[in-house]
Amino acid sequence: QRQMCIRDRIVHSGEYRKKNGQRGCVMMNNFIFENKTKVYFGKGCVGEYLPKIAAVHGDKVLLAYGGGSIKKNGVYEEVIAALEKAGKTIIEFPGIMENPTYKKVLEGTKLVKEKQVDWILAVGGGSVMDCSKAISMAAVSEKDVWDEYWAKKGVVDFEPMPLGVIVTASGTGSECNGGAVITNEEVMIKTDRDYPKCNPEFALMDPTYTYTVPTKQMVAGSFDILSHVMETYFSEPDEDNVSDDISEALMRGVITSLRAALVNPEDYTARSNLMWLSTMAENRIIKLGKKCDFECHQMEHQISAYTNCSHGCGLAVLHPVYYRHICQAGAKKFTRFAENVWKIPRNGRTDEEMAEAGVEALADFIREIGLPTTLREVGVEKKEDLKEIADSCYLVDGSYKKMTHEEILEIFLECF
Ligand code: NZQ
Ligand code: ZN
Repeated sequence: QRQMCIRDRIVHSGEYRKKNGQRGCVMMNNFIFENKTKVYFGKGCVGEYLPKIAAVHGDKVLLAYGGGSIKKNGVYEEVIAALEKAGKTIIEFPGIMENPTYKKVLEGTKLVKEKQVDWILAVGGGSVMDCSKAISMAAVSEKDVWDEYWAKKGVVDFEPMPLGVIVTASGTGSECNGGAVITNEEVMIKTDRDYPKCNPEFALMDPTYTYTVPTKQMVAGSFDILSHVMETYFSEPDEDNVSDDISEALMRGVITSLRAALVNPEDYTARSNLMWLSTMAENRIIKLGKKCDFECHQMEHQISAYTNCSHGCGLAVLHPVYYRHICQAGAKKFTRFAENVWKIPRNGRTDEEMAEAGVEALADFIREIGLPTTLREVGVEKKEDLKEIADSCYLVDGSYKKMTHEEILEIFLECF
């Protein structure tokens, strides 16, 4: 311990920085790490573990799911069989839409209260998991959960209803965090909050469940993973930290595994990697000690609040343009991105030129995997609408270059 103290003093001293060629670097932020979700990963995990898990939970379970994909691919039958084996009473809550609304949260909450449900099992992608998290809070809280916990950051001083998830699509990482992104249609706001108490108790993750995800959604979900890592990576501190090293490996993993899954959608290794990469990007581990940016997510959420576009598609349109705006402010890091993620050789280029090359490699990848590149493609109809959307975006502090609503409008117009 004494040695660590001495090392700390040395590392943080100006002398150390000078000797090691560091500029006045920003140190790792302090943090508390918590992640209560127990993960069961791999082929066959639902049949093997769900009956045992269900056995130690209450009698009445709310089975929450989306628009019906689980009824077409056999997941529904497997889940029902496991719950019946454990003798559970199943209350079904179908129809959770992409970009779940607060109205849907209230509908689920009403059902939970009427039927006196004991716990919730969410089977689906990010939308089903997020909506279920909000229900798990609203089922217990006396307050209006939108006003108290989404319109502003609240304090969750109670235990939400127990929630478990079965993941059917990779992307958001919602299975291992307390994040829930809810759209309030009345006020046209889509807001994300991450409350550790909302982490699912358990997550069952069978990569074969993702074989039937439509290509467009698989690509969008994979880009969401990449975006989560980039939004974390492109923020201070920039030198010598665990997060950035892990992040580079995660980004290379998404690129390689997505290319493999596009060639063969039933490539178990590729699907397993995408599923676990998705968790690793959003289980808070890489965020530890980092400021985090997530301005691009804020912009996408508002585009989505107005157009209901797919989250990953919106991000794909915005990211390259946003990065063209900020890359010179973080040129060293964007250079590292170009070299370590895209393997672009220096060839006499300056940091500024390398930074741009990294952003262009990202833009090329987006075209290669067939994601949209304009806001028109994701449902923005008129240029004139963009000012109102830009003005509704939340401005974060973690970016290399703090945005203004005027600059967000410029970005939107360039994306149009
Ligand atoms: O609804 P069903 O019929 O199930 O179909 C879904 C939906 O149409 C389909 N799908 C899912 N698994 C499938 C499948 N189709 C065939 N086979 C399967 N195995 O995929 C479509 C999209 O599902 P959705 O859950 O909406 O996608 P995703 O996982 O990308 O979630 C997006 C939502 O999560 C939020 C987004 O903003 C958006 O609202 N996010 C949540 C985060 C979090 N909680 O940490 C972080 C993210 O940044 C993100 O904002
Ligand atoms: Zn995302």
